[in-house]
Amino acid sequence: MTLNPKLTKLLNEQINNEMSSSYVYLAMAAWFERTPYAGFAQWMFAQSGEETMHALKFYQYLVDRDAKVELQPIEKPKMDYKSVMDAFQYSLKQEEKVTQQINDLYEVAEQVKDHASKNLLLWFLNEQMEEEKTVRDMLDRLKLAGDDAASLLVLDREAGSRKSTGGGSRPNMVGGGA
Ligand SMILES: [Fe+2]
Ligand SMILES: [Fe+2]
Repeated sequence: MTLNPKLTKLLNEQINNEMSSSYVYLAMAAWFERTPYAGFAQWMFAQSGEETMHALKFYQYLVDRDAKVELQPIEKPKMDYKSVMDAFQYSLKQEEKVTQQINDLYEVAEQVKDHASKNLLLWFLNEQMEEEKTVRDMLDRLKLAGDDAASLLVLDREAGSRKSTGGGSRPNMVGGGA
């Protein structure tokens, strides 16, 4: 079944949205690297990798459906944040925006009765629900920690132990590993 042209265009846009998201998180990782919070830097780096995996999932889907992949320029991400809280609040907004995008995509897939696309998008909707929850949980704990340095460092350590499914850990250039 040929992929509907409107759906093809929107799925291509979603590759760009996910890559932009990946860029936003990489910028956040870079910002955290210049603070004492190495754990949050690791968290954002891992999140950036996950977003790249999302983009590649849409890419692969278009290829599998024999549709044309059209890559667009990626917007320059916001590079500076006021605080840990500020970065995570921005992250939540980012995820809510993506959830809306996927939701809109699902609606189009439904309109054109493309059930395979609906199936792909359902996976993404669940993923979005999880990502929003993870960020909200962190925001709750950041609120609780407030300006208390010891509490923030506990959260930072916890964030740093986060396992990534996509991007993996930050490469350790100094150690010269594999
Ligand atoms: Fe994503
Ligand atoms: Fe995400």
